[in-house]
Amino acid sequence: MSNDLSQDPLANKQQAWSALFSEPMSELVKRYTASVGFDQRLWRADIEGSLAHAAMLAAQGVIAAQDLADIRRGMAQIVEEIEAGRFEWKLELEDVHLNIEARLTALVGDAGKRLHTGRSRNDQVATDVRLWLRGEIDKIASLLAGMQGALVSLAAAHTETVMPGFTHMQVAQPVSFAHHLLAYVEMFARDGERLADLRRRTNRLPLGAAALAGTSYPIDREAVARALGFDGVCGNSLDAVSDRDFALEFTSFAAICMVHVSRLAEELVLWMSQNFGFIDLADRYCTGSSIMPQKRNPDVAELARGKSGRVVGHLMGLITLMKGQPLAYNKDNQEDKEPLFDTVDTLADTLRIMAEMVGGIRVKPEAMERAALRGYATATDLADYLVQKGLPFRDAHETVAHAVKVAIQQGLDLAELPLATLQGFNAAIAEDVYAVLTLRGSLASRQSLGGTAPAQVQAQIERHRARLAAG
Ligand code: ARG
Repeated sequence: MSNDLSQDPLANKQQAWSALFSEPMSELVKRYTASVGFDQRLWRADIEGSLAHAAMLAAQGVIAAQDLADIRRGMAQIVEEIEAGRFEWKLELEDVHLNIEARLTALVGDAGKRLHTGRSRNDQVATDVRLWLRGEIDKIASLLAGMQGALVSLAAAHTETVMPGFTHMQVAQPVSFAHHLLAYVEMFARDGERLADLRRRTNRLPLGAAALAGTSYPIDREAVARALGFDGVCGNSLDAVSDRDFALEFTSFAAICMVHVSRLAEELVLWMSQNFGFIDLADRYCTGSSIMPQKRNPDVAELARGKSGRVVGHLMGLITLMKGQPLAYNKDNQEDKEPLFDTVDTLADTLRIMAEMVGGIRVKPEAMERAALRGYATATDLADYLVQKGLPFRDAHETVAHAVKVAIQQGLDLAELPLATLQGFNAAIAEDVYAVLTLRGSLASRQSLGGTAPAQVQAQIERHRARLAAG
Protein backbone atom coordinates (compact mmCIF):
# COMPACT_ATOMS: atom_id res chain seq x y z
CA MET A 1 0.00 0.00 0.00
CA SER A 2 1.45 3.37 -0.91
CA ASN A 3 0.09 6.83 -0.34
CA ASP A 4 0.86 9.42 -2.98
CA LEU A 5 1.19 12.48 -0.75
CA SER A 6 1.90 14.77 -3.64
CA GLN A 7 -1.68 14.53 -4.79
CA ASP A 8 -3.93 17.52 -4.21
CA PRO A 9 -7.03 15.96 -2.65
CA LEU A 10 -9.43 18.58 -3.99
CA ALA A 11 -8.04 18.19 -7.52
CA ASN A 12 -8.74 14.48 -7.33
CA LYS A 13 -12.52 14.20 -7.14
CA GLN A 14 -12.31 10.52 -6.27
CA GLN A 15 -10.90 11.23 -2.85
CA ALA A 16 -12.20 14.58 -1.84
CA TRP A 17 -11.33 14.45 1.84
CA SER A 18 -7.75 13.31 2.31
CA ALA A 19 -4.53 12.00 0.92
CA LEU A 20 -4.71 9.15 3.40
CA PHE A 21 -6.59 6.99 0.96
CA SER A 22 -4.61 4.93 -1.49
CA GLU A 23 -7.40 3.76 -3.75
CA PRO A 24 -10.48 5.44 -5.14
CA MET A 25 -13.97 4.49 -4.09
CA SER A 26 -15.80 2.14 -6.39
CA GLU A 27 -18.68 3.65 -8.33
CA LEU A 28 -21.10 1.56 -6.33
CA VAL A 29 -19.75 2.75 -2.98
CA LYS A 30 -19.82 6.34 -4.22
CA ARG A 31 -23.46 6.02 -5.14
CA TYR A 32 -24.26 4.16 -1.95
CA THR A 33 -22.66 6.71 0.38
CA ALA A 34 -23.56 9.93 -1.44
CA SER A 35 -26.46 12.03 -0.17
CA VAL A 36 -26.16 15.02 -2.49
CA GLY A 37 -29.05 13.71 -4.59
CA PHE A 38 -31.41 14.52 -1.75
CA ASP A 39 -29.62 16.70 0.78
CA GLN A 40 -29.02 19.52 -1.72
CA ARG A 41 -32.41 20.69 -0.53
CA LEU A 42 -30.55 21.93 2.59
CA TRP A 43 -28.37 24.32 0.59
CA ARG A 44 -29.83 27.56 1.86
CA ALA A 45 -29.55 26.49 5.52
CA ASP A 46 -26.03 25.23 4.83
CA ILE A 47 -24.93 28.59 3.45
CA GLU A 48 -26.71 30.53 6.17
CA GLY A 49 -24.96 28.40 8.82
CA SER A 50 -21.58 28.79 7.12
CA LEU A 51 -21.92 32.56 6.91
CA ALA A 52 -22.79 32.80 10.62
CA HIS A 53 -19.85 30.51 11.46
CA ALA A 54 -17.45 32.56 9.31
CA ALA A 55 -18.63 35.86 10.82
CA MET A 56 -18.04 34.46 14.30
CA LEU A 57 -14.56 33.14 13.34
CA ALA A 58 -13.66 36.62 12.05
CA ALA A 59 -15.07 38.35 15.13
CA GLN A 60 -13.00 36.02 17.32
CA GLY A 61 -9.87 36.66 15.28
CA VAL A 62 -9.65 33.04 14.07
CA ILE A 63 -9.83 34.08 10.41
CA ALA A 64 -9.03 37.46 8.87
CA ALA A 65 -11.61 40.08 7.93
CA GLN A 66 -10.50 39.60 4.32
CA ASP A 67 -11.27 35.86 4.55
CA LEU A 68 -14.77 36.67 5.75
CA ALA A 69 -15.25 39.13 2.89
CA ASP A 70 -14.07 36.51 0.39
CA ILE A 71 -16.34 33.86 1.87
CA ARG A 72 -19.32 36.23 1.67
CA ARG A 73 -18.55 37.11 -1.92
CA GLY A 74 -18.13 33.48 -2.92
CA MET A 75 -21.30 32.39 -1.12
CA ALA A 76 -23.30 35.18 -2.78
CA GLN A 77 -22.24 33.83 -6.15
CA ILE A 78 -23.07 30.26 -5.12
CA VAL A 79 -26.56 31.37 -4.07
CA GLU A 80 -27.02 32.94 -7.49
CA GLU A 81 -25.78 29.81 -9.25
CA ILE A 82 -28.06 27.50 -7.28
CA GLU A 83 -31.10 29.74 -7.68
CA ALA A 84 -30.47 29.97 -11.42
CA GLY A 85 -30.09 26.18 -11.65
CA ARG A 86 -26.50 26.64 -12.84
CA PHE A 87 -24.76 25.02 -9.87
CA GLU A 88 -23.13 21.76 -10.76
CA TRP A 89 -23.84 19.21 -8.03
CA LYS A 90 -21.21 16.47 -8.06
CA LEU A 91 -21.85 12.97 -6.76
CA GLU A 92 -18.16 12.47 -6.07
CA LEU A 93 -18.34 15.37 -3.61
CA GLU A 94 -20.81 13.25 -1.62
CA ASP A 95 -23.11 15.76 0.02
CA VAL A 96 -24.42 19.30 -0.01
CA HIS A 97 -21.74 20.46 2.45
CA LEU A 98 -18.72 19.29 0.47
CA ASN A 99 -20.23 20.47 -2.82
CA ILE A 100 -20.70 24.00 -1.56
CA GLU A 101 -17.34 24.13 0.19
CA ALA A 102 -15.51 22.88 -2.89
CA ARG A 103 -17.22 25.44 -5.09
CA LEU A 104 -16.42 28.19 -2.57
CA THR A 105 -12.78 27.23 -2.59
CA ALA A 106 -12.76 27.17 -6.38
CA LEU A 107 -14.20 30.69 -6.37
CA VAL A 108 -12.23 32.38 -3.56
CA GLY A 109 -9.23 30.16 -2.85
CA ASP A 110 -7.73 29.91 0.65
CA ALA A 111 -10.59 31.72 2.42
CA GLY A 112 -12.82 28.86 1.28
CA LYS A 113 -10.41 26.36 2.82
CA ARG A 114 -10.47 28.30 6.12
CA LEU A 115 -14.27 28.13 6.47
CA HIS A 116 -14.21 24.67 8.03
CA THR A 117 -11.95 25.80 10.92
CA GLY A 118 -13.41 24.74 14.26
CA ARG A 119 -16.27 22.91 12.58
CA SER A 120 -17.10 19.43 11.35
CA ARG A 121 -19.71 18.15 8.96
CA ASN A 122 -21.19 16.45 12.00
CA ASP A 123 -22.24 19.66 13.73
CA GLN A 124 -22.79 21.31 10.34
CA VAL A 125 -25.37 18.80 9.14
CA ALA A 126 -27.18 18.75 12.49
CA THR A 127 -27.38 22.55 12.32
CA ASP A 128 -28.58 22.56 8.72
CA VAL A 129 -31.37 20.08 9.35
CA ARG A 130 -32.59 21.98 12.41
CA LEU A 131 -32.50 25.32 10.58
CA TRP A 132 -34.33 23.91 7.59
CA LEU A 133 -36.90 22.08 9.73
CA ARG A 134 -37.58 25.21 11.77
CA GLY A 135 -38.68 26.99 8.60
CA GLU A 136 -40.88 24.05 7.59
CA ILE A 137 -42.40 23.89 11.09
CA ASP A 138 -43.51 27.50 10.72
CA LYS A 139 -45.09 26.82 7.32
CA ILE A 140 -46.88 23.74 8.64
CA ALA A 141 -48.14 25.68 11.66
CA SER A 142 -49.91 28.08 9.33
CA LEU A 143 -51.27 25.25 7.15
CA LEU A 144 -52.65 23.63 10.31
CA ALA A 145 -54.32 26.90 11.22
CA GLY A 146 -55.77 27.07 7.69
CA MET A 147 -57.17 23.56 8.08
CA GLN A 148 -58.85 24.53 11.35
CA GLY A 149 -60.15 27.75 9.81
CA ALA A 150 -61.81 25.82 6.97
CA LEU A 151 -63.50 23.45 9.42
CA VAL A 152 -64.66 26.27 11.70
CA SER A 153 -66.13 28.20 8.74
CA LEU A 154 -68.09 25.18 7.58
CA ALA A 155 -69.21 24.45 11.14
CA ALA A 156 -70.47 28.01 11.60
CA ALA A 157 -73.14 27.38 8.97
CA HIS A 158 -74.29 24.10 10.52
CA THR A 159 -74.91 24.48 14.25
CA GLU A 160 -78.57 23.54 13.61
CA THR A 161 -77.93 20.83 11.03
CA VAL A 162 -78.75 17.52 12.69
CA MET A 163 -76.95 14.31 11.86
CA PRO A 164 -76.71 11.00 13.65
CA GLY A 165 -73.79 10.75 16.03
CA PHE A 166 -72.30 7.28 15.99
CA THR A 167 -70.67 4.85 18.39
CA HIS A 168 -69.59 1.46 17.07
CA MET A 169 -70.66 2.95 13.73
CA GLN A 170 -74.28 2.50 14.92
CA VAL A 171 -76.62 5.46 15.24
CA ALA A 172 -76.26 6.67 18.83
CA GLN A 173 -77.57 10.17 19.53
CA PRO A 174 -78.31 13.23 17.40
CA VAL A 175 -75.47 15.74 17.08
CA SER A 176 -75.08 18.81 14.93
CA PHE A 177 -72.86 18.63 11.88
CA ALA A 178 -70.98 21.61 13.31
CA HIS A 179 -70.31 19.71 16.51
CA HIS A 180 -68.91 16.79 14.55
CA LEU A 181 -66.61 19.04 12.49
CA LEU A 182 -65.38 20.82 15.61
CA ALA A 183 -64.17 17.52 17.04
CA TYR A 184 -61.55 17.60 14.26
CA VAL A 185 -60.71 21.20 15.08
CA GLU A 186 -59.82 20.05 18.59
CA MET A 187 -57.53 17.37 17.16
CA PHE A 188 -55.75 19.79 14.85
CA ALA A 189 -55.48 22.33 17.66
CA ARG A 190 -53.65 19.76 19.78
CA ASP A 191 -51.40 18.99 16.82
CA GLY A 192 -50.60 22.70 16.69
CA GLU A 193 -49.67 22.66 20.38
CA ARG A 194 -47.40 19.67 19.85
CA LEU A 195 -45.74 21.41 16.93
CA ALA A 196 -45.10 24.61 18.89
CA ASP A 197 -43.66 22.56 21.73
CA LEU A 198 -41.26 20.53 19.59
CA ARG A 199 -40.17 23.70 17.80
CA ARG A 200 -38.57 24.86 21.05
CA ARG A 201 -36.37 21.78 21.23
CA THR A 202 -35.61 21.85 17.51
CA ASN A 203 -34.44 25.44 17.73
CA ARG A 204 -31.15 24.80 19.53
CA LEU A 205 -27.75 25.13 17.93
CA PRO A 206 -25.42 22.12 17.54
CA LEU A 207 -22.70 24.09 15.70
CA GLY A 208 -19.52 24.43 17.74
CA ALA A 209 -19.68 20.80 18.88
CA ALA A 210 -17.31 20.19 15.97
CA ALA A 211 -16.73 16.48 15.29
CA LEU A 212 -17.85 15.39 18.77
CA ALA A 213 -15.64 16.84 21.51
CA GLY A 214 -15.83 20.58 20.95
CA THR A 215 -12.92 22.58 19.59
CA SER A 216 -9.74 24.28 20.75
CA TYR A 217 -10.48 27.48 18.81
CA PRO A 218 -11.91 30.36 20.85
CA ILE A 219 -15.36 30.14 19.27
CA ASP A 220 -18.49 31.94 20.47
CA ARG A 221 -21.41 29.56 20.11
CA GLU A 222 -23.91 31.89 21.76
CA ALA A 223 -23.18 34.53 19.13
CA VAL A 224 -23.75 32.02 16.30
CA ALA A 225 -26.99 30.93 17.96
CA ARG A 226 -28.21 34.53 18.13
CA ALA A 227 -27.20 35.23 14.53
CA LEU A 228 -29.15 32.20 13.30
CA GLY A 229 -32.21 32.84 15.47
CA PHE A 230 -31.73 29.79 17.69
CA ASP A 231 -33.13 29.96 21.22
CA GLY A 232 -29.94 28.50 22.69
CA VAL A 233 -27.11 26.03 22.14
CA CYS A 234 -27.02 22.25 22.59
CA GLY A 235 -25.26 21.80 25.91
CA ASN A 236 -23.20 18.65 25.29
CA SER A 237 -21.07 18.31 22.17
CA LEU A 238 -21.49 14.53 21.91
CA ASP A 239 -25.25 14.85 22.13
CA ALA A 240 -25.27 17.85 19.80
CA VAL A 241 -23.87 15.93 16.83
CA SER A 242 -25.78 12.71 17.39
CA ASP A 243 -29.19 13.79 18.66
CA ARG A 244 -32.05 13.43 16.21
CA ASP A 245 -34.86 13.62 18.79
CA PHE A 246 -36.15 16.73 17.07
CA ALA A 247 -36.68 14.73 13.87
CA LEU A 248 -38.37 11.94 15.83
CA GLU A 249 -40.61 14.42 17.59
CA PHE A 250 -41.51 16.12 14.35
CA THR A 251 -42.31 12.83 12.66
CA SER A 252 -44.37 11.68 15.65
CA PHE A 253 -46.31 14.92 15.50
CA ALA A 254 -46.76 14.44 11.74
CA ALA A 255 -47.89 10.82 12.13
CA ILE A 256 -50.49 11.81 14.73
CA CYS A 257 -51.65 14.71 12.59
CA MET A 258 -51.91 12.47 9.51
CA VAL A 259 -53.95 9.99 11.55
CA HIS A 260 -56.35 12.84 12.31
CA VAL A 261 -56.45 13.75 8.63
CA SER A 262 -57.03 10.11 7.78
CA ARG A 263 -60.00 9.82 10.13
CA LEU A 264 -61.56 12.90 8.59
CA ALA A 265 -60.82 11.64 5.08
CA GLU A 266 -62.46 8.33 5.92
CA GLU A 267 -65.59 10.15 7.07
CA LEU A 268 -65.69 12.23 3.91
CA VAL A 269 -65.46 9.05 1.85
CA LEU A 270 -68.27 7.44 3.84
CA TRP A 271 -70.45 10.54 3.84
CA MET A 272 -70.14 10.90 0.08
CA SER A 273 -71.08 7.27 -0.57
CA GLN A 274 -74.61 6.57 -1.79
CA ASN A 275 -75.48 4.78 1.45
CA PHE A 276 -74.90 7.94 3.49
CA GLY A 277 -75.29 10.71 0.95
CA PHE A 278 -74.55 13.33 3.65
CA ILE A 279 -72.26 15.48 1.53
CA ASP A 280 -70.94 16.03 -1.93
CA LEU A 281 -67.32 16.84 -2.65
CA ALA A 282 -66.56 19.28 -5.44
CA ASP A 283 -65.77 17.70 -8.80
CA ARG A 284 -62.24 19.04 -8.75
CA TYR A 285 -61.38 16.63 -5.90
CA CYS A 286 -62.98 13.61 -7.54
CA THR A 287 -62.14 11.41 -10.47
CA GLY A 288 -64.19 9.24 -12.79
CA SER A 289 -63.85 5.60 -13.67
CA SER A 290 -62.55 4.37 -17.00
CA ILE A 291 -65.19 1.65 -17.12
CA MET A 292 -68.16 2.79 -15.00
CA PRO A 293 -69.55 5.97 -16.50
CA GLN A 294 -71.66 6.87 -13.45
CA LYS A 295 -68.74 7.02 -11.01
CA ARG A 296 -67.40 10.02 -9.12
CA ASN A 297 -64.76 8.76 -6.76
CA PRO A 298 -63.38 10.73 -3.78
CA ASP A 299 -59.78 9.99 -4.76
CA VAL A 300 -58.22 12.95 -2.98
CA ALA A 301 -59.75 11.95 0.36
CA GLU A 302 -58.74 8.34 -0.20
CA LEU A 303 -55.17 9.35 -0.98
CA ALA A 304 -54.99 11.54 2.10
CA ARG A 305 -56.10 8.52 4.11
CA GLY A 306 -53.54 6.35 2.33
CA LYS A 307 -50.68 8.78 2.77
CA SER A 308 -51.07 8.59 6.54
CA GLY A 309 -49.55 5.10 6.24
CA ARG A 310 -46.50 6.50 4.59
CA VAL A 311 -45.89 9.08 7.32
CA VAL A 312 -46.42 6.53 10.08
CA GLY A 313 -43.87 4.41 8.19
CA HIS A 314 -41.36 7.27 8.26
CA LEU A 315 -41.77 7.49 12.03
CA MET A 316 -41.02 3.77 12.33
CA GLY A 317 -38.03 4.17 10.01
CA LEU A 318 -36.52 7.08 11.89
CA ILE A 319 -37.03 5.70 15.35
CA THR A 320 -35.46 2.42 14.28
CA LEU A 321 -32.60 4.35 12.69
CA MET A 322 -31.71 5.82 16.07
CA LYS A 323 -32.06 2.66 18.08
CA GLY A 324 -28.71 1.12 18.91
CA GLN A 325 -26.53 3.95 17.59
CA PRO A 326 -23.57 4.42 19.91
CA LEU A 327 -22.36 7.96 20.60
CA ALA A 328 -21.55 10.11 18.81
CA TYR A 329 -22.11 10.75 15.08
CA ASN A 330 -22.58 7.75 12.81
CA LYS A 331 -23.23 7.73 9.10
CA ASP A 332 -26.58 6.09 9.87
CA ASN A 333 -27.76 9.62 10.55
CA GLN A 334 -27.56 10.47 6.89
CA GLU A 335 -30.64 8.27 6.55
CA ASP A 336 -32.69 10.77 8.56
CA LYS A 337 -33.18 13.07 5.61
CA GLU A 338 -35.35 11.30 3.07
CA PRO A 339 -38.03 10.24 5.59
CA LEU A 340 -37.98 13.67 7.17
CA PHE A 341 -38.23 15.48 3.84
CA ASP A 342 -41.01 13.23 2.63
CA THR A 343 -42.87 13.65 5.91
CA VAL A 344 -42.76 17.43 5.54
CA ASP A 345 -43.85 17.32 1.88
CA THR A 346 -46.63 14.81 2.43
CA LEU A 347 -48.04 16.58 5.46
CA ALA A 348 -47.87 20.05 3.90
CA ASP A 349 -49.54 18.95 0.65
CA THR A 350 -52.17 16.97 2.51
CA LEU A 351 -53.09 19.81 4.87
CA ARG A 352 -53.31 22.25 1.98
CA ILE A 353 -55.52 20.03 -0.16
CA MET A 354 -57.76 18.88 2.69
CA ALA A 355 -58.41 22.47 3.77
CA GLU A 356 -59.37 23.37 0.21
CA MET A 357 -61.59 20.33 -0.10
CA VAL A 358 -63.39 21.01 3.19
CA GLY A 359 -64.06 24.54 1.93
CA GLY A 360 -65.83 23.04 -1.11
CA ILE A 361 -68.07 20.53 0.73
CA ARG A 362 -71.75 20.67 -0.21
CA VAL A 363 -73.85 19.58 2.78
CA LYS A 364 -77.12 17.67 2.36
CA PRO A 365 -78.98 18.38 5.62
CA GLU A 366 -82.12 16.39 4.68
CA ALA A 367 -80.12 13.19 4.22
CA MET A 368 -78.37 13.70 7.56
CA GLU A 369 -81.68 14.28 9.28
CA ARG A 370 -83.29 11.26 7.64
CA ALA A 371 -80.43 9.08 8.85
CA ALA A 372 -80.74 10.48 12.38
CA LEU A 373 -84.43 9.58 12.40
CA ARG A 374 -83.70 6.00 11.42
CA GLY A 375 -81.75 4.61 14.35
CA TYR A 376 -83.78 5.51 17.46
CA ALA A 377 -81.29 8.27 18.16
CA THR A 378 -83.54 9.85 20.79
CA ALA A 379 -83.87 6.72 22.95
CA THR A 380 -81.52 8.19 25.56
CA ASP A 381 -83.68 11.31 25.62
CA LEU A 382 -86.70 9.21 26.52
CA ALA A 383 -84.72 7.59 29.33
CA ASP A 384 -83.62 11.01 30.58
CA TYR A 385 -87.27 12.15 30.45
CA LEU A 386 -88.28 9.26 32.67
CA VAL A 387 -85.46 10.08 35.09
CA GLN A 388 -86.94 13.57 35.34
CA LYS A 389 -90.25 11.93 36.23
CA GLY A 390 -88.53 10.20 39.16
CA LEU A 391 -87.35 6.85 37.73
CA PRO A 392 -83.82 5.65 38.56
CA PHE A 393 -81.73 5.79 35.36
CA ARG A 394 -81.16 2.01 35.14
CA ASP A 395 -84.95 1.38 35.28
CA ALA A 396 -85.56 4.11 32.71
CA HIS A 397 -82.96 2.50 30.43
CA GLU A 398 -84.77 -0.86 30.66
CA THR A 399 -88.19 0.71 30.05
CA VAL A 400 -86.96 2.47 26.92
CA ALA A 401 -85.39 -0.75 25.64
CA HIS A 402 -88.91 -2.25 25.69
CA ALA A 403 -90.31 0.80 23.92
CA VAL A 404 -87.64 0.58 21.18
CA LYS A 405 -88.36 -3.11 20.72
CA VAL A 406 -92.05 -2.42 20.17
CA ALA A 407 -91.27 0.52 17.87
CA ILE A 408 -89.00 -1.70 15.77
CA GLN A 409 -91.74 -4.36 15.56
CA GLN A 410 -94.24 -1.74 14.40
CA GLY A 411 -91.75 -0.09 12.02
CA LEU A 412 -92.17 3.27 13.73
CA ASP A 413 -89.87 5.87 15.23
CA LEU A 414 -90.23 6.51 18.98
CA ALA A 415 -91.83 9.87 18.24
CA GLU A 416 -94.43 8.09 16.10
CA LEU A 417 -95.71 5.81 18.89
CA PRO A 418 -99.13 6.96 20.16
CA LEU A 419 -99.21 8.42 23.67
CA ALA A 420 -101.30 5.50 24.90
CA THR A 421 -98.64 3.04 23.75
CA LEU A 422 -95.90 5.04 25.46
CA GLN A 423 -97.96 5.26 28.63
CA GLY A 424 -98.20 1.47 28.53
CA PHE A 425 -94.45 1.45 29.27
CA ASN A 426 -94.71 4.00 32.05
CA ALA A 427 -97.76 5.84 33.28
CA ALA A 428 -95.78 8.98 34.05
CA ILE A 429 -95.27 9.67 30.33
CA ALA A 430 -97.32 12.67 29.21
CA GLU A 431 -97.87 14.71 26.04
CA ASP A 432 -94.69 16.76 26.71
CA VAL A 433 -92.62 13.64 25.88
CA TYR A 434 -92.84 14.45 22.17
CA ALA A 435 -90.74 17.60 22.62
CA VAL A 436 -87.80 15.53 23.86
CA LEU A 437 -88.26 12.82 21.24
CA THR A 438 -87.62 15.18 18.32
CA LEU A 439 -84.09 15.53 16.97
CA ARG A 440 -84.02 19.25 17.69
CA GLY A 441 -85.38 18.77 21.20
CA SER A 442 -82.64 16.23 21.84
CA LEU A 443 -79.96 18.54 20.47
CA ALA A 444 -81.15 21.55 22.44
CA SER A 445 -81.17 19.59 25.69
CA ARG A 446 -77.45 18.75 25.55
CA GLN A 447 -76.32 21.98 27.16
CA SER A 448 -73.44 20.53 29.18
CA LEU A 449 -70.09 22.18 28.56
CA GLY A 450 -68.73 20.91 25.23
CA GLY A 451 -72.10 19.34 24.39
CA THR A 452 -73.94 19.45 21.08
CA ALA A 453 -76.64 22.05 21.93
CA PRO A 454 -76.42 24.89 19.38
CA ALA A 455 -75.47 27.44 22.05
CA GLN A 456 -72.62 25.23 23.26
CA VAL A 457 -71.41 24.64 19.72
CA GLN A 458 -71.55 28.36 19.03
CA ALA A 459 -69.37 28.90 22.10
CA GLN A 460 -66.85 26.40 20.70
CA ILE A 461 -66.81 28.24 17.40
CA GLU A 462 -66.13 31.54 19.11
CA ARG A 463 -63.37 30.05 21.24
CA HIS A 464 -61.64 28.62 18.16
CA ARG A 465 -62.06 31.82 16.19
CA ALA A 466 -60.47 33.87 18.95
CA ARG A 467 -57.61 31.37 19.28
CA LEU A 468 -56.95 31.25 15.54
CA ALA A 469 -57.09 35.04 15.23
CA ALA A 470 -54.53 35.37 18.04
CA GLY A 471 -52.24 33.12 15.99
N1 ARG B 1 -23.95 13.76 4.68
C1 ARG B 1 -23.67 13.53 6.05
C2 ARG B 1 -24.99 13.33 6.83
O1 ARG B 1 -25.99 13.63 6.32
C3 ARG B 1 -22.95 14.70 6.62
C4 ARG B 1 -22.12 14.38 7.80
C5 ARG B 1 -21.02 13.47 7.43
N2 ARG B 1 -20.10 13.33 8.48
C6 ARG B 1 -19.17 12.39 8.46
N3 ARG B 1 -18.38 12.32 9.46
N4 ARG B 1 -19.09 11.54 7.47
O2 ARG B 1 -25.01 12.86 7.94
